[in-house]
Amino acid sequence: MSRICAGRAEEWNDNEQREVQLDGQSVVVVRYEGQFYALRNLCTHKDVPLLGGEVSDGKITCTKHGGRFELATGRARALPAVKPVTVFRTVVEEGEVFVESLEGA
Ligand code: FES
Repeated sequence: MSRICAGRAEEWNDNEQREVQLDGQSVVVVRYEGQFYALRNLCTHKDVPLLGGEVSDGKITCTKHGGRFELATGRARALPAVKPVTVFRTVVEEGEVFVESLEGA
């Protein structure tokens, strides 16, 4: 299992987003309503980063065409996005946020 630290939890503001690299992939980490979520930083409609998209209602919106993805599941919830985006596990250990790949879980 791969994991990467995304910083101290107390240093995150709500709705803040950061990019980390895990297994050579760009991952967008979002704090939303006090929880941490991590998704592959690539819209499944076209290859556009999700980083910087509006976060609301538990979803992140692609800035290019408005596709929306559930933070918790990666499911596409608004066209033109149809395919889900890969999600990663987040855990907070001793005050630090970690992003982990789901393989081998
Ligand atoms: S590139 Fe994301 S919705 Fe089109």
